[in-house]
Amino acid sequence: MPYVTEKTLTDIVRERWTNIPDARLRQVMTALVKHVHAFVREIEPTQAEWATAIDFLTRTGQMCDDKRQEFILLSDVLGVSMLVDAINHRRQSGATPSTVEGPFHVADAPPMSNGANMAVNAPGIPCFVVGKVSGLKGEPVAGATLDLWQTDGDGLYEAQRPDIEGPWMRGLYRAQDDGAYLIRTVAPIAYTIPMDGTIGELMNRTDMSHMRPAHIHFALSAPGYHGLVTHLFQSGDKWINDDAVYGVKEPLIVDFKKLPAGSKAPSGEIMNEPFCVVHYDFVLERKAQAAAA
Ligand code: BEZ
Ligand code: FE
Repeated sequence: MPYVTEKTLTDIVRERWTNIPDARLRQVMTALVKHVHAFVREIEPTQAEWATAIDFLTRTGQMCDDKRQEFILLSDVLGVSMLVDAINHRRQSGATPSTVEGPFHVADAPPMSNGANMAVNAPGIPCFVVGKVSGLKGEPVAGATLDLWQTDGDGLYEAQRPDIEGPWMRGLYRAQDDGAYLIRTVAPIAYTIPMDGTIGELMNRTDMSHMRPAHIHFALSAPGYHGLVTHLFQSGDKWINDDAVYGVKEPLIVDFKKLPAGSKAPSGEIMNEPFCVVHYDFVLERKAQAAAA
């Protein structure tokens, strides 16, 4: 092995990682060495700056537990979560696009009948979400599961309301035989990503937005189809072009149409207060084996 110099160091390190037996780890680590060395060569950190970076990453890790994941938040604000999502969900044109899952999904949402209200006693403007789940050829996906979670009208998720026992602002719906679904909830509002940790420290040193535009999260699944984790975003939201985690895709922006008290809701009832209606048809892509069968 040649002795290292500033010039030869990167090649020497890469060379050593090139000889490990695990092919995927070899590919990952040689690329990591290549790009981290290029990054360091580009920014030329002082020793003090490098120590600050190590301290930042150390404190980011120390903030993580089973409820809080500051490293995922770092990946989110760097756009890496969206990039990994895009790479893993390349779908045919016409299929509803995916977006980040985020940290607030809770498993085992309560099952809801078609049209049931998943926001009983929650603050916010009543909101109906109505549409169909179909495949790329237009076939209805009967029985598709729609797992929803969102903030209430105060901008808080279940995890941010420790005072409330039991499920809050989430529900498991099923598409009917014709693929149709009807959800009753309240309209979400824009909210900030958690700012009380190291990512907040970082964002506060910038003038970048730390807001997420108002959205409802959906995870759709059906046998024979690729699952879909996505959001519906409210058109016209102040932060629609500045999502802190880069989750907004044009086909996911929808109108939350406001209707006055006395209007008929999609459930058939006459509402005694103003409410919103969102129409959205989800399109799922069949898995290759299912399509071929
Ligand atoms: C969310 O949508 O809930 C979310 C996603 C990424 C970071 C923070 C929040
Ligand atoms: Fe969210």
